[in-house]
Amino acid sequence: MAADRRQSSILNPQSSIPSDGPVGVFDSGVGGLTVFREIARVLPNQPLVYLGDCARVPYGTKSPETVTRYSLEAANHLLERGIRMLVVACNTATSAALPTLQEQLRIPVIGVVEPGAQAAVAKSAGRIGVIATEGTVKAQAYTKAIRRLKPDAEVIESAAPLFVPLAEEGWANTHVAREVAEVYLEPLIDAGIDTLVLGCTHYPILRGTIEQVVGDSVRIVDSAETTALAVQSALGESATNGAEPLHQFLVTDATERFRRIAGDFLEQEIRHLELVAL
Ligand code: DGL
Repeated sequence: MAADRRQSSILNPQSSIPSDGPVGVFDSGVGGLTVFREIARVLPNQPLVYLGDCARVPYGTKSPETVTRYSLEAANHLLERGIRMLVVACNTATSAALPTLQEQLRIPVIGVVEPGAQAAVAKSAGRIGVIATEGTVKAQAYTKAIRRLKPDAEVIESAAPLFVPLAEEGWANTHVAREVAEVYLEPLIDAGIDTLVLGCTHYPILRGTIEQVVGDSVRIVDSAETTALAVQSALGESATNGAEPLHQFLVTDATERFRRIAGDFLEQEIRHLELVAL
């Protein structure tokens, strides 16, 4: 297969991009669909294959070793489907497993933390709040990535684990979500943050509720948007430019539940959906 050697600084340096094949996107469940949607928006002709590890969600409360094992299994399954690039559409998996994935895979692997950190630094005047899963917060993934870019940035990371089941249940716009958001976000507002990073790909599903609680003065960084731009720039000219692409969806469990929630979120019928074992 012909290879395009174009690389970007956030890619694994030894990788090369195959000239065709879908872009693989994976997450523990439906959260990575926020990244999928943005990639499909900026690269409307590029086929995508999405894998949601619904059998093992959540990743956020599991150890880095377990999340790394799950991530390698997901990546290997997607490789068998001929993907040309892997997008780790999960902050927890990015925090735990990105270096291992980048070392072991010959194709480019993009995580969501670095693009999110870059956007936060570009938007913030100095005090950045990050909400993420327990695993991402424990790893201090955003604090490290932001401080690499801006050593004097103030970063306050806080876990918001209940946002994951609220998103998975389709409860993003309920009064329950609003009350949970108030409990998680008020300490960050009181600490005077000017920017809030949604450091879990499930959280943009609750963006409306989160925005209502933090108000207009806090800028929101959604790593889904910035990651999609990173994918676009890494693919460059090699992005597929053909007819309307066929996107595929793979899940490890709860097929009909995924079909319903993904359909509502993407506002389209989920047709090519398959149950897989990793
Ligand atoms: N969506 C994932 C993330 O970005 C993980 C949610 C979970 O499985 O706990 O961190």
